[in-house]
Amino acid sequence: MTVALIWAQDRNGAVGRDNTIPWRVPEDQKRFRELTRGHRVVMGRRTWESLPVRFRPLPDRRNIVLTRDVRWSAPGAEVAHDLSAALRIDPQDTVIVMGGSQIYAAALPFADHLWITDIDTVVADADAHAPDLDDEWDCSIGEWATSTTGMRYRYRDLTRRR
Ligand SMILES: NC(=O)c1ccc[n+]([C@@H]2O[C@H](COP(=O)([O-])OP(=O)(O)OC[C@H]3O[C@@H](n4cnc5c(N)ncnc54)[C@H](OP(=O)(O)O)[C@@H]3O)[C@@H](O)[C@H]2O)c1
Repeated sequence: MTVALIWAQDRNGAVGRDNTIPWRVPEDQKRFRELTRGHRVVMGRRTWESLPVRFRPLPDRRNIVLTRDVRWSAPGAEVAHDLSAALRIDPQDTVIVMGGSQIYAAALPFADHLWITDIDTVVADADAHAPDLDDEWDCSIGEWATSTTGMRYRYRDLTRRR
């Protein structure tokens, strides 16, 4: 099984504010769709609830939602109550952890790949952050590009050193 984490972060590592993603980069959303299509995506209950109702479950992917609430359910969501159960559901496949902050931190020790998008902005009052990384990663960094929204962004792909 391969475990990949995918997120976009501002210059200070912020990934969210008020349970939303506080920027819009359609090119990054497209890349997210391409990288995750056909795989399992694992997300926290708060990230599930941050998705617009019309976009959930995310199509063409198994949507696995982590919650400690044994009564929680939602149409189209497969519920898991602990991370190792969520990662184990199909050991043959790649599983992609798509947030948010709590789930990135919990899943980082299991991750083989990190697909990070750097967003060239600073979000005031951010309340969700990417985990700190140690130096156990080989990193390939793309060029900065400018979105149709005017926001600058670049991709950083990290692979765990073995
Ligand atoms: N920039 C990006 O790429 C990106 C991507 C995704 C999300 N986000 C942002 O991240 C923010 C949300 O992150 P968050 O940290 O607040 O919430 P989250 O990680 O999405 O979800 C947290 C919830 O997950 C459940 N949970 C956490 N750890 C668990 C565990 N070990 N076992 C079982 N369930 C567990 C709990 O649900 P219960 O309370 O139901 O028990 C907890 O409240 C939002 O602002 C969102 O927009 C950003």
